Amino acid sequence: MQISSALTGPIVLVGMMGSGKSHLGRGLAQALGLEFYDSDTLIEEKAGRSVADIFEEFGEQKFREAEKNTVLELLEKGKCVISTGGGAVTTPETLEAIKALALSVWLRAGPEAILERLHDHGSRPLLQTPDPQKTLHDLLAAREPLYARADLTVETGGESAHAALNKLIKTLHNHLYSG
Ligand code: S3P
Repeated sequence: MQISSALTGPIVLVGMMGSGKSHLGRGLAQALGLEFYDSDTLIEEKAGRSVADIFEEFGEQKFREAEKNTVLELLEKGKCVISTGGGAVTTPETLEAIKALALSVWLRAGPEAILERLHDHGSRPLLQTPDPQKTLHDLLAAREPLYARADLTVETGGESAHAALNKLIKTLHNHLYSG
């Protein structure tokens, strides 16, 4: 009843910034004995710049292109856990590749939980607006239908990281071993 032996490809975590993708992704990979990859970290390593600097110097479009290439590259790695940036699913090719090649999980959190976790708006260029709360609401409204295309959904708002990780593992297990 090992999750990793039932997998046929990567597990990809999608969802809004602050939904716990990187933290839970690392924990999940450790629990399953798989490699963990964070697409933002890889983009930063390749560019030699932070995500915020890439947005500032080259703009969002270029970032999305680099993000698409990085996610496509990671999807070739076979069984592993991949955490994506919150906007990865807004690039149709990225979303379709995730749908085709991975078991995807939407880590879903409401705006209150997200804002509480994102003390450091500074590292999230899309929230550098006069009203980050409204921006977050608008982004969520636009993106929820895209996140909802993931194979599975796990609520991560309002509970401890430990509880969310257990729920994520249970959801994967039920999905892989039901029927
Ligand atoms: C973004 C989310 C960020 C990062 C970039 C854009 C977004 O990743 O990719 O700032 O569009 O929501 P996290 O979801 O890991 O914060």
